[in-house]
Amino acid sequence: MTANELRAKFLKFMESKGHTIIPSASLVPQNDPTVLFTTAGMHPLVPYLLGEKHPGGARVANAQKCVRTGDIDEVGDNRHLTFFEMLGNWSFGDSQKTDGIGAGYFKREAIEWSFEFLTGEKWLGISPERIFVTVFKGDETAPKDEESIGIWQAQFKKAGLNAKVADDDGIWSDPDVKIFPLGRDDNWWEGGGQTAPGGPDTEMFFDTRPQEGYAAKTFGELVDAFRFIEIWNDVFMQYRKKAAGGYEPLNQKNVDTGMGVERTLAVLNGVETVFETELFEPLFRKIGEITGTEYGDFIKEYRIIADHLKAATFILAAGIVPSNVEHGYVLRRLIRRAIRYAKLLGVSRAFTVELAQVVVDMYQETYFELEGKRAFIFEELTKEEEKFRKTLEKGLKELKSQVHNSKVKALSGEIVFNLYQTFGFPIEMTRELAVEEGMEIDEAGFEKELRRHQELSRTASAGKFKGGLADHSEETTKLHTAAHLLLESLRRVLGNHISQKGSNITAERLRFDFTHGEKMTPEQIKQVEGLVNEQIDKDLPVRVEEMTVAKAKETGAMGAFESKYGEKVKVYFIGDFSKEICGGPHAEHTGALGHFKILKEESSSAGVRRIKAILATSQ
Ligand code: ALA
Repeated sequence: MTANELRAKFLKFMESKGHTIIPSASLVPQNDPTVLFTTAGMHPLVPYLLGEKHPGGARVANAQKCVRTGDIDEVGDNRHLTFFEMLGNWSFGDSQKTDGIGAGYFKREAIEWSFEFLTGEKWLGISPERIFVTVFKGDETAPKDEESIGIWQAQFKKAGLNAKVADDDGIWSDPDVKIFPLGRDDNWWEGGGQTAPGGPDTEMFFDTRPQEGYAAKTFGELVDAFRFIEIWNDVFMQYRKKAAGGYEPLNQKNVDTGMGVERTLAVLNGVETVFETELFEPLFRKIGEITGTEYGDFIKEYRIIADHLKAATFILAAGIVPSNVEHGYVLRRLIRRAIRYAKLLGVSRAFTVELAQVVVDMYQETYFELEGKRAFIFEELTKEEEKFRKTLEKGLKELKSQVHNSKVKALSGEIVFNLYQTFGFPIEMTRELAVEEGMEIDEAGFEKELRRHQELSRTASAGKFKGGLADHSEETTKLHTAAHLLLESLRRVLGNHISQKGSNITAERLRFDFTHGEKMTPEQIKQVEGLVNEQIDKDLPVRVEEMTVAKAKETGAMGAFESKYGEKVKVYFIGDFSKEICGGPHAEHTGALGHFKILKEESSSAGVRRIKAILATSQ
């Protein structure tokens, strides 16, 4: 099946179920400050999910181009992409008149139609044997989704299968188990921002290797082994986040679904990764022509170049030009990273336009804006490539001379900033280059230089989080205190090489970046969580003392010793467990924090890991 056929089938199916087909919205959200790019089909539809009337009625569907930039450094592996397409159908508001075309719908129709589209002979024709689903197992916000379980069982029954439900341990404990109730990490979806709509979801997975037979493993293990691949997500959007934390029910119950085009195409064609589909092959062919190399020998490089230039072409088509801020910076990063990887394959001439041409040819039938923007895209790419090529040569010389002159193991913040400011080296690239030379970069020093520069040129953009905190609400403050416990716990479990690289804290969650060269093991994550919770259980007092930097150093406090000698800093002590230089604010006692939980541990960039964590409300 081709991508065009897949999109057309989906839209035709949804049309037959009374949906109005709407165009793909811009990649750059028009009225949504919470995201730089459209990362899911629901973004442009938020007002309608919250109650406004959509001109297309209560049922709409489309193919939406999306960009997710959180994982740029992961691109090159088997599954990460920055640009991808999502097929989606939406219902704005449940309705009593569920059988009437045009009225809204909820769980029953959403699941029945998902099953019909996936398995129907006329549609995707996937064998029901190869479909496995997950549902929300319930927590303090919403109950276990028994309704979806019942609807799924009825679907499988129609196909002659007796679908059993896994226990709460999520293990495939019996060959007949088809439905896995999982927790919030897996089966809850919500938009970005402080007050986005969200809700429990049910996700559909394809079994890529049924010949291996039933295996008594957890669902997560089967996904990690690439045996089960997620292809579709039906979200039952009936809640909204509150800025102060927690959720409130929405006035209407909505459906928001998303099916990944690239992944679905891969499974339908029986290939292992999205990179073996026609959505990448023409790009790989072109890269092969340009570089005189083979995909099989340079898999990572090919994937990065193809993915990044595809994303860049679409971002340019949205009217963004390369720059050093926001959308333009992401665009610049993508283009420059692609060029650098092409350089590793020996390319020293301009080549990006040739790949953008392939992208435009591949997608113009679906995304009409590409054709009209052809000249603009090519012009901007040519300009950026020229600019970068010049700066790359100069910058590389500069970097090499710094590396060779340097007796220390880290490039100073000043040098890194200079490469950024004068030569346009994105920090991520300098980091990668430095690592190749066996060096690190002084990230804190770079941040400091950057801040100084921003203040000087008064360009510090408004609204950026202060001290990593989105606000000073009670929830945010508690998470901030948890961040101090987390840093100290990481150091005790992983070692003293751990230092904080950044944090970003909202009322809902904590994001924490720290220096560490490898993925944490599940045991380490458990130990760290346990250590934090132990301090919470001890209800340690949080106390603050002002002292000179010299004194703070003496006490062994963690933190950046940036202030000039003699100046006073605040040091926060949490019992005897942690001391850290910090501006606050903090909770007064750790007992107020509730239960600390790590949701995710992932790479943030080379040598830097990222933890996402929450505090579950105390009972
Ligand atoms: N908005 C949902 C997702 O992105 C469908 O998975």
